[in-house]
Amino acid sequence: MKEILEELERRRDVARLGGGKERIEAQHKRGKLTARERIDLFLDEGSFEEFDMFVEHRSTDFGMDKSRIAGDGVVTGWGTVNGRTVFVFAKDFTVFGGSLSEAHAEKIIKVQDMALKNRAPVIGIYDAGGARIQEGVAALGGYAEVFQRNVLASGVIPQISVIMGPCAGGDVYSPAMTDFIFMVRDTSYMFVTGPDVVKTVTNETVTAEELGGATVHTTRSSIADGAYDNDVETLLQVRRLIDFLPKSNTSPVPEIECYQSVTDTDNSLDTLVPANANKPYDIKELIQKVADEGDFFEIQSNFAKNIVCGFGRIEGSTVGFVANQPMVLAGVLDSDASRKAARFVRFCDCFNIPIVTFVDVPGFLPGTAQEYGGLIKHGAKLLFAYAEATVPKLTVITRKAFGGAYDVMASKHLRGDLNYAWPTAQIAVMGAKGAVEIIFRKDIADPDKIAAHTKMYEDRFLSPFVAAERGYVDEVIMPHSTRRRLARGLKMLRNKDLTNPWKKHDNIPL
Ligand code: HXC
Repeated sequence: MKEILEELERRRDVARLGGGKERIEAQHKRGKLTARERIDLFLDEGSFEEFDMFVEHRSTDFGMDKSRIAGDGVVTGWGTVNGRTVFVFAKDFTVFGGSLSEAHAEKIIKVQDMALKNRAPVIGIYDAGGARIQEGVAALGGYAEVFQRNVLASGVIPQISVIMGPCAGGDVYSPAMTDFIFMVRDTSYMFVTGPDVVKTVTNETVTAEELGGATVHTTRSSIADGAYDNDVETLLQVRRLIDFLPKSNTSPVPEIECYQSVTDTDNSLDTLVPANANKPYDIKELIQKVADEGDFFEIQSNFAKNIVCGFGRIEGSTVGFVANQPMVLAGVLDSDASRKAARFVRFCDCFNIPIVTFVDVPGFLPGTAQEYGGLIKHGAKLLFAYAEATVPKLTVITRKAFGGAYDVMASKHLRGDLNYAWPTAQIAVMGAKGAVEIIFRKDIADPDKIAAHTKMYEDRFLSPFVAAERGYVDEVIMPHSTRRRLARGLKMLRNKDLTNPWKKHDNIPL
């Protein structure tokens, strides 16, 4: 009997070694952890329950029958993050470069199916070269099965991808269909085809970093939602994100103890907006002063910085913050900002996370670059996302809410539940200068007349009161009371019951 038990331990030890000591050392030399080390660090200590440790591939082509490794390049199972169940798979680069065989795909599919059935998030840790070339179409079929499950799970359970090595082919397409992607600086890359193929096909010489490094994907392509310096920091940040997310679209948002009273007022907010309407200020200061203990998990912090998106908590419950950022391009809405915020709003709506919107927006960005780049369609994405969202929507206009951007940013007309304005709000079709130059064009040569018209326009329209007179803002509030007002509003909206008309799905302008 003892020998039988020892045989299990022996087999386990072999499986745990993956591609062997040398390849593990090579992995460490590159500054990367192994798949098992990553899972151990990511999950609560001792909580990992592994599946399919002894699965091997069934391929015989290219001498593969002589090279079988228990686990077949992916470690799968489940565990907990701060006590909450999550399913996880981690690609093992030491085994055939983490590439996906038919058997490897079956392991991932099992975890995806279990996560969906049990309504818990699934986290994929990637360090892999795509379809296993030796397996041909069996590997392609395996990927398609994974992709199909990514899509079926989308909007039902949170799916998070963590890119921790060179990733190509299917190992970038599957992450692309998940909710969030995080990368590690200097050791992770994402591309459909690597630098060698690029050289052959387009004759471009490009490094892996230039083609698909963390900088490219967090600042230019917007494929990744964040990047961190090393494996440890990345995995700890993903744990932090999971703490904000519900387990599924039928679970409530997590609630944790709140140590900061919501009745304490923050008088510094009364002077946040500068007297000069053209002077910028940092909207993140408002977010941090409204969120419990200033804890804010920002999404895509280095892309389209003119809009800020991320998660925080108010009185212990998760909310999604969306805010125009006056520090960057005066907070204008352009194509990138619209796409970024639209995706975030839709994520919140899928998972019943209330949305708090802070508005200070001079309008949509004019110009040929924007128009040729599809501003109409991209701006419509954000408009569409806010309009279809049925979660509680609370809006605070701090300063400018001009033109179409006023409508878009969770206005009352798009079923905003509570729309507040600070006394500094200016809600109008456009700023005074532009307005006067159009409606008093005949007086353009007379500076005195123009100054008088401007003053009249400013007095009448550049305030929150015209909108308040119509009920388009529910209340003009003191800046220092913002956190308290939002907390009370969120409590009142807890049982909000709103559904859209039945449809198969909508047709958002993609
Ligand atoms: C089988 C693979 C492999 C793969 C890597 N390996 N990718 N084995 N199938 N797809 C093996 C290598 O042969 C090598 O084995 C080991 O993994 C480590 O790879 P290296 O090339 O030495 O590592 P590195 O220099 O770091 O480069 C990593 C890489 C590169 C950038 C991922 O290996 C690469 O470009 N691989 C091919 C990527 C690719 O084209 N995949 C198919 C995509 S098609 P040894 O034994 O020599 O150490 C696809 C279809 C899905 O995925 C459908 C999408 C819609």
